[in-house]
Amino acid sequence: MERVIVKTDFKELKLFRRGKVRDVYDLGDTLLIVSTDRISCFDVVLPNGIPFKGKVLTGLSCYWFDFIKDIVPHHLISTDITSFPNALEKYKDELSGRAMLVKKTKPLPVECVVRGYLSGSGWKEYKEKQSVCGVTLPEGLKESDKLPEPIFTPSTKADVGHDMNVDQKYVENLIGKNTADSLARLSIALYKKASDYAFTQGVIIADTKFEFGLLDDHIILIDEALTPDSSRFWPREEYAPGKGQSSFDKQFVRDYLETLDWDKTPPGPVLPEDIIAKTTQKYLEAYRKITGRDFS
Ligand SMILES: Nc1ncnc2c1ncn2[C@@H]1O[C@H](COP(=O)(O)OP(=O)(O)OP(=O)(O)O)[C@@H](O)[C@H]1O
Ligand SMILES: [Mg+2]
Repeated sequence: MERVIVKTDFKELKLFRRGKVRDVYDLGDTLLIVSTDRISCFDVVLPNGIPFKGKVLTGLSCYWFDFIKDIVPHHLISTDITSFPNALEKYKDELSGRAMLVKKTKPLPVECVVRGYLSGSGWKEYKEKQSVCGVTLPEGLKESDKLPEPIFTPSTKADVGHDMNVDQKYVENLIGKNTADSLARLSIALYKKASDYAFTQGVIIADTKFEFGLLDDHIILIDEALTPDSSRFWPREEYAPGKGQSSFDKQFVRDYLETLDWDKTPPGPVLPEDIIAKTTQKYLEAYRKITGRDFS
């Protein structure tokens, strides 16, 4: 049986941040990013873990870091627990396959969102104003249509509630014009390279979010990259514009939750075993499609 980890609590380490899904520890010059098996849906963390989810997400991030390293350097040092600091040795069962040791950077306070398809809040805005985050688009597009070109739609991290969409001028004021231009250029280049490849493997990456940090004044890619938690993944074979698309990974969970009388505020409902099992299969399938290898 695969051990499911929904929370880590390494008392003698300094907790850097506990997100919806990841537990991050501060090791000084490095961070330890642990992807747990927690799943969030409609922004609420559910009580069950999804077996293999954390390991699959870590595996996918690592795959992509290597895939895009010619465009921009990344923060990953290692996922091999035998190379981790000795103090982590006793947690090796919990860390194995799901933890990344990364270079600690000064994070740039911008969520670098790239959209290649019209979906979610983008579709909502388009219907009202024919634009997405202020970028005017051709008329006559349908929900889930592919955009003529991917667009960069940054947002700022809000500590509470949802992120706030901002325009490029706002980003320039925050971090300077040079850095702002670089983030836009790099984000689009990363999205194009990854989404073109994913498409050939049967996965549409409709949109995604990157984060960057500064290390010795150089921009490097940080956080997770191009996972189903930081992106919208759609199965290519089911793609049909003119309506919302099914999510590659969370559709079974969403469909189940929609059958309940739940108001989408915490606490989230317990998931039935078969929904959990089917969702695990989806994460494994996403890994297999993108990397071309079985998850082991
Ligand atoms: N190499 C790095 N250097 C510095 N900070 C990093 C690095 N990699 C990731 N981070 C930061 O670690 C944090 C990870 O938090 P995480 O994404 O798990 O939770 P969150 O963003 O607070 O919430 P959510 O679960 O909604 O994403 C982010 O704030 C991210 O900017
Ligand atoms: Mg985050």
